[in-house]
Amino acid sequence: MLLTRIDGQARAIMKVCLHLGGPLERDGDELVCSWRNARSSLDGGSKLAGPGHPDLPLLHLPIKVIDGVVNYVHKD
Ligand code: FES
Repeated sequence: MLLTRIDGQARAIMKVCLHLGGPLERDGDELVCSWRNARSSLDGGSKLAGPGHPDLPLLHLPIKVIDGVVNYVHKD
């Protein structure tokens, strides 16, 4: 998981490629899959290049920062 801030908002993004589940690594403002080089933007999570469906966003976990601590927000 990548924990970062985008436009002042804390974000938790799963570092798993939505093509076939390869590992994603950060490269500036993008996440890049080392298997077949799919690239996605960190801000909106849209796919920029590579295999897989272009409209699949990255997986974001629901989090909330409370008193400086990142909390997972469970939704029923
Ligand atoms: S699994 Fe990442 S590009 Fe295919």
